[in-house]
Amino acid sequence: MARKPFIAGNWKMYKTTNEAVELAGSLVKEIGKFVHADIALCPTYTVLNDVYKTIENSVITLGAQNVYWESEGAYTGEISPIMVKDTGAEYVIIGHSERRKYFSETDSTVNKKVKAVLAIGLTPIICIGETLEEREQNKTMDVIKTQLEGGLEGFAALDVLNSVIAYEPIWAIGTGKTATPEQAEEVHAFIRTWLEEKYTSSTSDQIRILYGGSVKPENIRELMQKENIDGALVGGASLKKDSFVSIVKNAVSDTIKT
Ligand code: PGA
Repeated sequence: MARKPFIAGNWKMYKTTNEAVELAGSLVKEIGKFVHADIALCPTYTVLNDVYKTIENSVITLGAQNVYWESEGAYTGEISPIMVKDTGAEYVIIGHSERRKYFSETDSTVNKKVKAVLAIGLTPIICIGETLEEREQNKTMDVIKTQLEGGLEGFAALDVLNSVIAYEPIWAIGTGKTATPEQAEEVHAFIRTWLEEKYTSSTSDQIRILYGGSVKPENIRELMQKENIDGALVGGASLKKDSFVSIVKNAVSDTIKT
């Protein structure tokens, strides 16, 4: 089945308010009416609402990079799903490898966060991926399976349908070293088959699986030619207007005339 391409920019811990609003504004001018792919910007918490106000009359949507699972309470420094939703965001990146590595996130915290955001009607972008060491030891599929089992534990097919999965091999993030389209496709196909076996084929057919890790204007087209790659979670190349716009356009250049 045809899954609509989805390109999300993960701005990580970059950009002050002025910088974020400027970038978002320039993206609205260039791709604010682009209908061939879903587009989301995921800036840091402090600028979520400013970016929202900049993009709200365009097709571009908003996502956060993290969330806490409780709805409110004495959790100094944390932000709840309702607070994220209140900014205008529709998506939340969950379990990014940088959060797993630097902030002790695990499949179990990912599971709680996914549950909390689904409950409030936000769409989680659930990140999974192996380290270089794990790949070299031929453990990639085991790691992916464990992350899927742990992150999605207890969910029904409908919950999973309302999620996006991002396969991000850790060795390809911010390194300039992209997985080859074949390496990425192998894991994407594995994920889709796992979803089919665990849930239903209509779930696995409909869910979008993004690739992330050094996506650039030059490599997105080839990645998107693969059957099971439905889009990208873009870090570094989403921080500049020209490269992000080219990624969005190149992602669909084989299927439409832009
Ligand atoms: P990168 O980051 O595109 O800079 O490799 C991707 C990500 O971390 O989501």
